[in-house]
Amino acid sequence: MNLNPSIAHHLTPSPTLHINEQVRARWAAGETVYHFGFGESRFSVHPRLQAALAANAHRKAYPPVQGVPELREAIAAHDSRWLGISCAAEQIIVGPGSKSLIYILQMALAGDLILPIPSWVSYAPQANLLGKPVHFVSAAAEDGYQMTIENLDAVVQGISTGQKLLILNTPSNPTGQMLTAELLIELADYCRAHQVFIISDEIYGEVPHGLQPHLSPSRFYPEGTIVVGGMSKHLSLGGWRLGRAIIPEALSEKLMPALLSIASEIWSSPSAPIQYAALTAYVGDSEVQAYVEKCTAIHAARTQHIWSWLDEIGIQVAQPQGGFYMMPNFNRWREPLAEIGVHTSEDLAGHLLDKYQLAFLPGTAFGTDPADLSLRLATSFIDMETTEAADRILDAWHGSKNPEAFMEDHHPQTAAALRQLQRFISSVKGSL
Ligand SMILES: Cc1ncc(COP(=O)(O)O)c(C=O)c1O
Repeated sequence: MNLNPSIAHHLTPSPTLHINEQVRARWAAGETVYHFGFGESRFSVHPRLQAALAANAHRKAYPPVQGVPELREAIAAHDSRWLGISCAAEQIIVGPGSKSLIYILQMALAGDLILPIPSWVSYAPQANLLGKPVHFVSAAAEDGYQMTIENLDAVVQGISTGQKLLILNTPSNPTGQMLTAELLIELADYCRAHQVFIISDEIYGEVPHGLQPHLSPSRFYPEGTIVVGGMSKHLSLGGWRLGRAIIPEALSEKLMPALLSIASEIWSSPSAPIQYAALTAYVGDSEVQAYVEKCTAIHAARTQHIWSWLDEIGIQVAQPQGGFYMMPNFNRWREPLAEIGVHTSEDLAGHLLDKYQLAFLPGTAFGTDPADLSLRLATSFIDMETTEAADRILDAWHGSKNPEAFMEDHHPQTAAALRQLQRFISSVKGSL
């Protein structure tokens, strides 16, 4: 048997799965590991959504490729409201997760892919599978990895294809940063002038921390921005595999038939019971909405607690504004780290796992330079390894009045992990 030679060399195991396997093997051997490597919202499926799924289990016919009309209507109304844009059901396509939709968008749209560094682990591998050239826009850890128009332009100038694609992710996995109105205004002008279409991955848009509002690039560049997202994060429904894309009216006539044609040849449509159950989430059920707000407040409290703790002990890390990630950087301790054999972010992740039982993903998984000592820290898993543990945390949350007491009283693993990190920083500082 031979694998398809045009993709075989791109088939490396995902770094996220790799770290999970390592952690599980250590847990199975009875070792303690504090897992900051795994990003998945752990809360239960809301009872109303469970009931809706059970009530729709009898639906066995293939749904339309674009998605069931009632669901697309509900999504369009929901998205128009929360994104502050105007979109209609005809502009919505649902798919098995937003990841699959990003893949077929990359397949359907001509042009090289531009990715700001750091960017989520799957965008570049998807482009590689499609034979689409990828260009990375660099950014500095000291600036919180914010992309600038100058750096974007330096990359665009080197691309010979007319049309180009830029994938943005706000709030970001890995940094938790949101794009600002100032940058989005500049970006809209730039993209319009340079034939750049944006795929805007807003899967964490409904998990804001209340520090600044979620802003979609589609507000500023409606004709050239395709918004993607789904139910995996704010509703903790990654396993339901339901995502949606909003195709701008200006592109719809050509792009929607192309997407429907590709989807019909690959997955036909997401499962019918899931689509009907999703209606309960998108019609604005007040109980489900309150639950989303509670889960979001807890993600925010946990993430902000960990961030301020890191910040206090002198680790360079931009304050996250949404989602459940941040990207600490250790470049300021480059010399003492080199003395203990840590030269790259992969060395650093390996050292912290071996010596301090702390699991992180290295920045390289998100495209950063190996010598840039950055790690991706996920806050969604620790102290919530099981759904039961996550539900105990939900029960313990009594509003955001005293998040510090909530963290102290109900997060023993987080406290132990942060002590381990403190020990590591003290040892690095001690060798200065
Ligand atoms: C940035 C980002 N985009 C997309 C996805 C995929 O989401 P979905 O479950 O909708 O495929 C994830 C999941 O981890 C993610 O972190």
